[in-house]
Amino acid sequence: MAGKFYITTPIYYVNDQPHLGHAYTTILADVLARYHRTLGDDVHFLTGTDEHGLKVQQAAQQRGADPQAHTDEFVQRFQEMWRRLDISHDDFIRTTEERHKKVVRRLLQDLYDKGEIYQDEYEGLYSVSEERFITQRELDSGEFRQVEKIKEQNWFFRMSAYQQRLIDYINEHPQFIQPDHRRNEVLGFLRQPLSDLCISRPKSRLEWGIELPFDSDYVTYVWFDALTNYISAIGYTEDQATFSKWWPADYHLIGKDILTTHCVYWPTMFMAAGIDLPRTIFAHGWWLMGEDKMSKSRGNVVRPLDLIDQVGVDPLRYYLMRDMVLGQDASFTADSFVRRYNADLANDLGNLVNRVAKFIRSNFDGKVPVGVNDENSTLHEILITRTKNVVSRVPELIGAMRLHEAIEAIIHLVRNVNWYLEQTQPWKQIKSDPARAGSVLYHAAEALRIALQLLHPVMPSRVEAMRAMIGASDIPLSDFNWGALISGTPLGEHETPFPRIDKLAATDEPAKPEEDEGVTFADFERVDLRVARVLAAEPVAGADKLVKLQIAVGDGERQIVAGIAEHYDPKDLLGKLIVVVANLEQAKIRGEVSQGMLLAAEDEDGNLVLATVDDPDVEPGAKVG
Ligand code: MSP
Repeated sequence: MAGKFYITTPIYYVNDQPHLGHAYTTILADVLARYHRTLGDDVHFLTGTDEHGLKVQQAAQQRGADPQAHTDEFVQRFQEMWRRLDISHDDFIRTTEERHKKVVRRLLQDLYDKGEIYQDEYEGLYSVSEERFITQRELDSGEFRQVEKIKEQNWFFRMSAYQQRLIDYINEHPQFIQPDHRRNEVLGFLRQPLSDLCISRPKSRLEWGIELPFDSDYVTYVWFDALTNYISAIGYTEDQATFSKWWPADYHLIGKDILTTHCVYWPTMFMAAGIDLPRTIFAHGWWLMGEDKMSKSRGNVVRPLDLIDQVGVDPLRYYLMRDMVLGQDASFTADSFVRRYNADLANDLGNLVNRVAKFIRSNFDGKVPVGVNDENSTLHEILITRTKNVVSRVPELIGAMRLHEAIEAIIHLVRNVNWYLEQTQPWKQIKSDPARAGSVLYHAAEALRIALQLLHPVMPSRVEAMRAMIGASDIPLSDFNWGALISGTPLGEHETPFPRIDKLAATDEPAKPEEDEGVTFADFERVDLRVARVLAAEPVAGADKLVKLQIAVGDGERQIVAGIAEHYDPKDLLGKLIVVVANLEQAKIRGEVSQGMLLAAEDEDGNLVLATVDDPDVEPGAKVG
């Protein structure tokens, strides 16, 4: 029975270039949206961009641009990418739009009026790259970058009060967080006491955000702002009819990286505001480049446009949907892409379309031949039964988010049609019994039509082209009745649907890191060089070259690890004013956390001399540049 289907993607940070990972979630949402449309469901598919926060502010500043102008420019990359990828979203929300800001302010005011928000002093560690406060344990994990120590007055949401309610809700609604192992991960996280959520940022530190309605010195924390997009876009508090038509969302699709914000922050905000929770939050895994994480600094980010330019958009959509088991990580390699393309698309599907269409063209005047219901033919019966089985199996698999299996089942049907032609051998009958050969072709084309319709959400434009090639264009996509193909319909223009490919050029080698183009002044300015005083120094056990230094850098103390043991006795370092890169990505070296790097000169013989500051009046923390 047709119903409504509201599906969302994360809203992407606007200052990033859209890459394969972003494309993946959006294509997945698109496939599900298109599939539900063919079921006759009333579908609302939302995507958009996350435009506030420190990262955007900093990126704009570096370019000397106003943040709004910066986001207006960058958002176009996403919009253009979705156009190229054939994304059929119904709405695109930007968090800088007034319709969104209005709802965020209203939600905040409502929570404030209910006593759910209070002011307090906060002291802790803030990760700029993640845009959130982190715990000491998280810092020690070494996984967080750009960590700053911060002490300030802030506004907090009483998230902790909802901990037990959330646990109960998750346990009572197994569909709420999917797949199951992600639900367990969230329940595991909730075994620790939940703290309250800091939902503000002082304007002195961050201006680019939505001002708190009850305190103009602050802007809203970017995650509180961003999550609200899922309800602001459908008119929460603005347009009751639209809101109640779509809410609750049927699927929030997310990557596993943003599980906590979606499965803990978001539902507790709702509990406090008295709004129903979304039906399912589904977290998929990561696309890795081979074995590695895809990242700008490794220079191995796959740009979807490179692939589209070479093979077209639909094979890319097909590969991404077919090669990821939803919920697990998947590995992108040029080889696996080429193999999948040639095996499934060029060989199985492409060859079948060629075979059927060409045979009809040359023997039946280019018109769909007449199919006779040959009750006595076992082969014919087998083909119909297999087709019907796939038609009923695919919705079950898609409903269970086993998309790769649904696609495999459809390709299996395609192979069955090839098998049916091998068995019936119409090319041998064409002279002696043309009517019978025509009937075989009709049945092959009919099974193929149904397979194509099942593949339509994944490869909309190529499927339309192939449907035309077998004379099936006018049949509604929702019609899976055997026999709907109309005899006598002229076939459309023919073109090889999937020419074989040998290799992919764009992904043979990782793209060159952007740094190769030379360092701009803005790039240089991002390196935070500071004077630091050495407070303590000792060798790192088990490592001949390493010294562990405790240093003061103005904003507090921290530890760095340096490879200078062969050149300096640790005790000679005490009190020295050295120069460090203060905002270097945190690392773990031989099990020791290192939050920065010192500078030293090295001559050709390998002698090393620390860069020091010789005026003792210079305060630790002074900027070098
Ligand atoms: N702005 C936040 C989301 C706010 S939602 C209210 C954000 N944006 S993001 O630009 O970093 O996009 C993250 C999402 O992109 C992931 O959750 C995932 O959907 C997708 N992906 C990014 N890299 C990915 C892979 N390598 N593989 C698969 N998807 C990944 O976080």
